[in-house]
Amino acid sequence: MRTARDSTLFSKQIERMFSAIAPTYDLLNRLLSCGQDIYWRKAAVDRLEPASGQELLDVATGTGDVALEIGRRMPGALQVIGVDFSLPMLERAKVKILRRGLEKTVRLEQGCGENLPFRNNRFDGVTCAFGIRNYGNVVLGLREMYRVLRGEGKVVILEFSLPSNSLLRSLYTFYFERVLPGLGKIVSRHDTAYSYLPRSVSGFPSRDGFAKMMEETGFENVAYRDLTFGIVTLYSGIKNEA
Ligand SMILES: C[S@@+](CC[C@H](N)C(=O)[O-])C[C@H]1O[C@@H](n2cnc3c(N)ncnc32)[C@H](O)[C@@H]1O
Repeated sequence: MRTARDSTLFSKQIERMFSAIAPTYDLLNRLLSCGQDIYWRKAAVDRLEPASGQELLDVATGTGDVALEIGRRMPGALQVIGVDFSLPMLERAKVKILRRGLEKTVRLEQGCGENLPFRNNRFDGVTCAFGIRNYGNVVLGLREMYRVLRGEGKVVILEFSLPSNSLLRSLYTFYFERVLPGLGKIVSRHDTAYSYLPRSVSGFPSRDGFAKMMEETGFENVAYRDLTFGIVTLYSGIKNEA
């Protein structure tokens, strides 16, 4: 467990890292996941089941792909706010929102996931794709998602994991630790961002461990399912009424 000071320093480094790789972030997502990332975000929005009239929050929205996927399904019928602490990531998201004519449906705000700038019980649903692994304090991040959700609101979280099958796990670990960091470095021109990625995934709790953290936060009906041979896991839960 990091101290409060360590976690603030860690978050500063993460914010700087994502700000530096923002220009090539989308390209590398498509390239390194062979296009699977589009399917993962669609699966997350399917799980969210957005409905007309709702107000939804996408935490650690980055370049806005989950927020845009929600908005694309119901333009004008609901509101999505994407929040992230990296301004360069949000600037990329802004361009995409305007290009798709979704500026009335998707809004952006700069803010920290561990201290969300929203009142209690506001949102009908909260999503977070590949964000929480990077938090200085994961427990605080979950508590904030819980706080801003209304009673019976749904949380949907996507995170990387490692395949459970040992053969697939070895093959994937080779790609993830030996191939991906080199490709990422060439395209992003950032020395460490894509070697940080596999390290951060191996440092993240197991599926059961993270589901337990969600339950300890107060979420009910916590469930998870693996996507693409278990390289990504989709978690969900409901805020209880109390
Ligand atoms: C791997 S990207 C994911 C972006 C987006 N959700 C997606 O699916 O592509 C992680 C994002 O989380 C943001 N982030 C990490 N820690 C954060 C925090 N504590 N508060 C707000 N944003 C954070 C980073 O700035 C970055 O944009």
